[in-house]
This record gives sequence, structure tokens and C-alpha cells, in this order.
Amino acid sequence: MSTVNTEKLSSARFAEATDAFVEVFTASVDFDQRMAQQDIQGSLAHAEMLCKIGILTAQELQDIQNGLAQISKEIADGEFKWSIKQEDVHMNIEARLTELIGIAGKKMHTGRSRNDQVATDIRLYLRNEIDTILAQLSRLQHALLNLAAREADTIMPGFTHLQVAQPVTFGHHLMAWFEMLARDRERLQDCLKRINVMPLGAAALAGTTYPIDRRLTAELLGFSRPSNNSLDSVSDRDFAIEFAAAASLIMMHLSRFSEELILWSSAQFDFIDMPDAFCTGSSIMPQKKNPDVPELVRGKSGRVTGHLVSLLMLMKSQPLAYNKDNQEDKEPLFDTADTLVNCLRAFADMMPHIRAKKDNMYRAAKQGFATATDLADYLVRKGMPFRDAHEVVGQAVRLGIDSGRDLADISLPELRQFSDRIDEDVFDILKLEGSVAARDHIGGTAPNRVRAAVEAAREQL
Ligand code: ARG
Repeated sequence: MSTVNTEKLSSARFAEATDAFVEVFTASVDFDQRMAQQDIQGSLAHAEMLCKIGILTAQELQDIQNGLAQISKEIADGEFKWSIKQEDVHMNIEARLTELIGIAGKKMHTGRSRNDQVATDIRLYLRNEIDTILAQLSRLQHALLNLAAREADTIMPGFTHLQVAQPVTFGHHLMAWFEMLARDRERLQDCLKRINVMPLGAAALAGTTYPIDRRLTAELLGFSRPSNNSLDSVSDRDFAIEFAAAASLIMMHLSRFSEELILWSSAQFDFIDMPDAFCTGSSIMPQKKNPDVPELVRGKSGRVTGHLVSLLMLMKSQPLAYNKDNQEDKEPLFDTADTLVNCLRAFADMMPHIRAKKDNMYRAAKQGFATATDLADYLVRKGMPFRDAHEVVGQAVRLGIDSGRDLADISLPELRQFSDRIDEDVFDILKLEGSVAARDHIGGTAPNRVRAAVEAAREQL
């Protein structure tokens, strides 16, 4: 007669003990213990529902509640003994519960499977993470609004192709960042709607024969409703993929902000001063002050997008319903949330300390004939077709390049060589202040529009 491994999960089915390596290979407890509190939360609601429908007695429910409270404390205090023999967070907690309270512990899993249990835990986990992420996002957005209000009049070059294009205000540039984050916030909130649906009751895949009250469990856990289809509930991780996609977009935005901060703090641009507390020095070059925080954030954006791709590939081609493949969803998901929270926090902490070097920004905006389009628009207002105006301005720019002067520094008689429609009032628009003030419409860079955008955004937040 063969020996039965009594410690093994579903032990009676097995004649042989699990291979020692396979035991380690298939276990997830090292990482999924991260969802312990969610697992307990789910179990408490499930047990309460089982009691309501008469599967558990009031005493059994009480025992389960006491036992889980103790386990929760043991875990929080770091005293809980996680065992790889129990494979994952779910079995570890259930085994400890049975150790603590006996028979009622063995009843807790009635009408449930780890398949609907784990799907529930992930949803509860993501719900919490999204709350944390939204709070950090909001801190960053407020910091941007404060900075944009302060810098609403600060003129800097606007770029296309990283070449000076037209003058803009620094406040306007910062509000562009704000808009990106506002869409990111909406995406997370939207994704939350699909996360907040309860899989419990789907059991292994087909539902359960007990007269469960799924609405009650959903209500107890704060889910908007029970899921519609048991097969779908235990298998799909599209909600996690959506979260990873929203996270990747945020990181992509942060990588763009990072890139600009890095450029601006270089000696070549010298547009901003980065706070010392967010930079580090070099071990060999004593003069260096490196923008480490934005560089790291830029780097970390790659790893979050990597996780998105991992999750997509994990889900691709999986037949219904649950497959063990899905155990692989946790690590990329946890790292996505952790990385995102940390990067947002670093940015939110750093942003209020960024100082604009206004003179350098102004000087740079004067360099690339940034008001050339304004001169063309001026000629159009005086009746010249745009194409002809474009040509006239090209000649004026040529003169500026040859004589090393900005358009605003060329004299009126010289400008009039190219067109006699040019009068003294041209200098109002050739000045950088005039150029930005003239873009006075919804979404424009005029300082009063930037201030209005900040105000509108404050109300919306
Ligand atoms: N640890 C598993 C996971 O993360 C829990 C579900 C296991 N279910 C099963 N039938 N093997 O997906």
C-alpha cells in the first residue's frame, strides 16, 4: 500500500507526495500573501452570507470571525507562519483558521473555490490601490496647478521638433501636463467600474448548488453587483489588464515630464532649478548634480509597460475557465501598482520645489525667431494673403540671421523694405509678451487664459 501525504492539498486523491521542486514551483504564497487582508475580508463576507442562508450557525460564524480577526492580527504583526506546503495565501489562512477554531474553519470554504476567491481578492486589492493612486495623482495635479498659477506670465520657447517654434507661457506648458493627468484620472475611474464587480459565487467555474445570496455578499464587500457569468468571473483578467494599461499611460506621461525636466535642468537649456533633495552627485565628478528622480521615473515607465504586455500575453489564448496560468498575474500587477504609486509620489513631492529660471527661458524664446508667425498673421490682418505674408517674413528672418538680430530688433525702415504694410504697431506683436497675449482663446497660451484654465481645473478637481 502506498503512503498518503496527509499534508497535501486534496490529499485523498493523491497516492504520492508532491515532488519537492514542484511544490516550490507551483506555490504562490511568497507573493500572494500580499492579498491576505483582502482574502480575510472576502472570507468574512462569505461566512456572513453562509450564516444568513443557514449553512453556518451563528456560533460557527462567531468562531470564524474571531479566528480570522486573530489571523489578521498575526499577519499584521509579522507573526503568521506562512507555509509553502499550503501553496497560497488562501490555503494558508484556511489551514490556520482550522487549527485555531476546528470544525467551523473547515466549513468556511462551503460554496466557494479558490478560483472565485482569488478573483475577488485581486479586485479588492486593485480597488484599494486605485484609491491610493488617485490620491497621489491628485497631489501631483494640485502641485501643477499651483506652479502653473505662479508661472502664468513666464515666457518660454514652445517647441516643435525640439526646435524653437513659438513663445508660450510656462504656466501653459504645465497645464498641458495637467490635462494629460486629468485624462489618466478618468481612465482609472472608468476602469474601477469594471473592477468593482463581484466574482464570489462562481465557485470553481459553474456556480454552486447552495442557495447562496450573491447580492448580499456583494453588498457586504462594497461591490456594485455580482458578476453575470460564472465561467467568465473566474477566468478573465481583463480588468487587471485595463488597470495595467491605464498605469502604463500614466507612466508614459511621467516619462515625458521627466524627459523635459532632465533637458531643462541641463546646462544647455538651464530653464529650471531642480531641488537638491531630488538630485544626487557623482562618485567621481564633484561638480555634478544629476536629475536622478526624473531619470528613474523615465526608466521605470518601461517596466510598467512590460507588465502590461506580460498580462496581455498571459491571458491570450487561455480556454475557459480558470487556468493556473493566472497565478502569474500577481507579480506584474503588484509591481505595476507599487511602481506607479512611488513615481507619482516622487513627482508630487518634487513639483512644488521646481524653480523657473525666467531670464533664461525668456532669452531662449527670443532666439529662434519665435514671433515669425505673429508677423505673418499681422500682415494677413493688413490684407496680405497668408502665402505672400509667409514669404515676406522669410525675408525678414533671413535679414535677422545675417545680422544676428531678433525680429523685434530690426528697425521699421528695414522691415518696410519687405512690405510697406508694416507700421510702427508691428513691434507690439513682435515682442514675446504681445505674441503670447494675442493667443487669447479657449486653450490658448495667453496668461489670462492660463489663469482661467487653472481656476476651472481647481473647481473640477
Ligand atoms: N493561487 C491560485 C492563483 O493565484 C489560486 C487559485 C488556484 N486554483 C486552483 N484551482 N488551482 O490563481
